Amino acid sequence: MRVLVVYESMFGNTHTVAERIGAGMGAGADVSVLRVGEVFGRELDDVDLVVVGGPTHVHGMSRTMTRASAAEQAAKDVELDLEPDAEGPGAREWLDGLGHVDGVRAAAFDTRADAPEIITGHASHGIAKRLRKHGFELVAEPESFLVDKQNHLVDGEDVRAAEWGEAVAAAATMV
Ligand SMILES: Cc1cc2nc3c(=O)[nH]c(=O)nc-3n(C[C@H](O)[C@H](O)[C@H](O)COP(=O)(O)O)c2cc1C
Repeated sequence: MRVLVVYESMFGNTHTVAERIGAGMGAGADVSVLRVGEVFGRELDDVDLVVVGGPTHVHGMSRTMTRASAAEQAAKDVELDLEPDAEGPGAREWLDGLGHVDGVRAAAFDTRADAPEIITGHASHGIAKRLRKHGFELVAEPESFLVDKQNHLVDGEDVRAAEWGEAVAAAATMV
């Protein structure tokens, strides 16, 4: 199975989760993990499963303004490093520009604050909605992975990401 994991990340957490998800899929899957900036214009006809993730910003998917505000936060905080292309177009822009895709399986994830979902919101549901709209076949419920107030992945979330990747790959082979 050919798998493309596409991630958007400002401070590196969604990147880490994307890598763990890809690793969890095991040797049976041919996995590429790419930044969203690397997949603009890429055809998806050679892919069986696409997994898309991004950080939750203002209860949903990031926008130009929220990415700029994350960059400002990183400039003020010596502990935060910005990912390459962090301020470039995000998953929203990539997905909104995609044409119709037939027969490709998909799943969505996000990173968000470690607090009740009703307070934090979640980017993954917006990603899943867009994937469905473009004709992807969702094989798993959207999933969130948690970061703490200092923007570090909560302990154990990397392991959970690998387990989720394994479960998503298994679900995709059953469809
Ligand atoms: C501008 C901005 C808005 C944010 N809004 C939310 C939010 O509404 N809910 C939430 O759970 N986390 C929010 N966060 C925290 C992000 O979800 C967190 O920084 C992100 O998951 C880290 O992923 P990354 O390291 O891949 O950028 C926000 C962060 C930024 C920079």
